[in-house]
Amino acid sequence: VGEEQLRRRLEGQFHFDPSTYEQEIRAEVPQFDRLQRVLASASGAGAARILELGTGTGETSALLLDRHPEALLVGIDSSENMLAVAREAFPRDRVDLRVARLEDELPPGPFDLVASALAVHHLDGPDKAELFSRVAGALRAGGLFVLADVVVPIDPADADVPLTPGYDKPSSVADQLRWLAAAGFDASVRWADGDLAVIVARS
Ligand SMILES: C[S@@+](CC[C@H](N)C(=O)[O-])C[C@H]1O[C@@H](n2cnc3c(N)ncnc32)[C@H](O)[C@@H]1O
Repeated sequence: VGEEQLRRRLEGQFHFDPSTYEQEIRAEVPQFDRLQRVLASASGAGAARILELGTGTGETSALLLDRHPEALLVGIDSSENMLAVAREAFPRDRVDLRVARLEDELPPGPFDLVASALAVHHLDGPDKAELFSRVAGALRAGGLFVLADVVVPIDPADADVPLTPGYDKPSSVADQLRWLAAAGFDASVRWADGDLAVIVARS
């Protein structure tokens, strides 16, 4: 493993401290709870199988499980430290949490819903485009991909969320809509405010 690759892996594992995450993320992203609520309501109803990308401590998963009471959720995250907190919070018969990177093969579908909050912006543009193709492949026909994330705002003055160079790599909404369309999705913006957006994409 090269030095740069190792640095990235360690950054992915230790960037967030699970014991302070919930407090810090709400300080850094004042609209955190709003973003999560919009994601949940954009995820429709009645999903039976959900894949969550970048589960972290399970803030997003909790809302998804409430919204889809019959659902089984598979959550992936590169950080075992973060997932350890989520593991405590959810029943094992409903939630399957796996240490995995978004850049790698996704758990086998088909899923009714793929959802992600504040995680995909850790991938650069080409990796996002490639992920969107794999998400399309993991969804059933007509399934939904809901992406809530930090984006490059249209007006640079709207960039509020603090970013770590080399770890946070947001893209514009326009680029992401283009990559989603190229992956075969019918995608549109559900909500956007400054440097945050929720995109809904139907496969
Ligand atoms: C800001 S947290 C979001 C967690 C949760 N979705 C929420 O909204 O609270 C970002 C999560 O993405 C994970 N992450 C970052 N880069 C990743 C990657 N390349 N593959 C998988 N997970 C990644 C981090 O470990 C972290 O748990």
